[in-house]
Amino acid sequence: MSRQRSRPLGVATVGYAFMGKAHSQAWRSVASYFDVPAFERRVLVGRDADAVTAAAARYGWADAVTDWRTLLDRDDIDIVDICTPGWLHAEMACAFLEAGKHVLVEKPLANSMAESAAMVTTAEQAATRGVRSMVGFNYRRVPALALARDLIAQGRLGVIRQVRVSYLQDWLADATAPMTWRLRKETAGSGALGDIASHAVDQVQFLLGDTITDVSGRLHTFVPTRDGADGPEPVTVDDAAWATLSLAGGAVASVEVSRVALGRKNALTIEVYGSEGSLAFDLERLNELTFFDGTASPATQGSARVLVTEPGHPYLDAWWPPGHTIGWEHTFTHQIRDFLTAIDSGVAPSPSFAEGLGVQRVLAAVQESAAAKSSIVTVGSV
Ligand SMILES: NC(=O)c1ccc[n+]([C@@H]2O[C@H](COP(=O)([O-])OP(=O)(O)OC[C@H]3O[C@@H](n4cnc5c(N)ncnc54)[C@H](O)[C@@H]3O)[C@@H](O)[C@H]2O)c1
Repeated sequence: MSRQRSRPLGVATVGYAFMGKAHSQAWRSVASYFDVPAFERRVLVGRDADAVTAAAARYGWADAVTDWRTLLDRDDIDIVDICTPGWLHAEMACAFLEAGKHVLVEKPLANSMAESAAMVTTAEQAATRGVRSMVGFNYRRVPALALARDLIAQGRLGVIRQVRVSYLQDWLADATAPMTWRLRKETAGSGALGDIASHAVDQVQFLLGDTITDVSGRLHTFVPTRDGADGPEPVTVDDAAWATLSLAGGAVASVEVSRVALGRKNALTIEVYGSEGSLAFDLERLNELTFFDGTASPATQGSARVLVTEPGHPYLDAWWPPGHTIGWEHTFTHQIRDFLTAIDSGVAPSPSFAEGLGVQRVLAAVQESAAAKSSIVTVGSV
């Protein structure tokens, strides 16, 4: 059911660097392709007045401000999209939800379990007043991965036995790469674990529609010191992480992530093996899903490369004719489309803050396990 509104929804985005740019692109394009409620791109928030004003003009925001708190009392702002580092998520999201603004916040939900739990409590209270919240696990909006989830839910793979997720980057492979907020525990919470294993863990639970119950983990920091503004500084987060995960339904998953895997730029690969079929996905070929149907005749059995560009595939009816491929940035457009549609229909969007907390619980258990020589830790026990 679509709601009648007296005016377009007013939107603000906080942050204008990597994710602020990707989300701005999505806000700019979504209404051209999808049927979404009317909205206006009102405000972009940063800290440096000149830089945020220039970014607002470039990305198409009507106005720019340097203090996010000035949005709290503004009646013309209905939605806030938070694209700042993790240490700011809890304070900003809770304040905006309490002020009655719908909130989309980038992953990971927050830097600590306490912050994550507070965000869930605030979000659930806000939901009773019709105020919506969602966390930005954009890979759920890759059409091939949304299709993979549908095929698994339809039972096309039979009973799921095994999942392998690998997410490898190399932007920290250079030992002279400088210190950033992403390498300090107090600002980032964790390293590759919170940054990219959060996506991997979300995918495992999303694709299988299942819950991770226990973990065995390992973390490693290959470059323990990096140059900061005041000289050498210890790196207090992991460069790489590994985990084996048990799911409630009986499947076992392995996750391997790294930011020092030289030569791998943003290599997310996912394989799912069931009793009757298997699936494989590679982000570098994101328009494709490999499907092996184990029930087909052995004479002609083989892996099919499904080109996920048909109008019947998730999200694809809005874009181009079959075979005319889409890219990474479209996942953010799909994310905004789903968030706006949920706000308009009054349906709780997914992934919710509670789902984001579920991912954080798994990551906390991996950290606990790593600190205890990879012993098995029950999710939710830390
Ligand atoms: N979904 C994805 O694929 C993906 C990819 C990268 C990052 N992220 C997540 O997005 C978030 C931001 O990461 P990023 O890579 O864009 O970081 P970034 O360092 O590129 O940008 C951070 C932005 O936050 C702004 N900012 C910082 N403090 C602020 C304040 N007090 N008030 C207003 N603005 C402030 C900065 O000006 C900057 O524009 C993180 O949670 C990160 O984990 C998600």
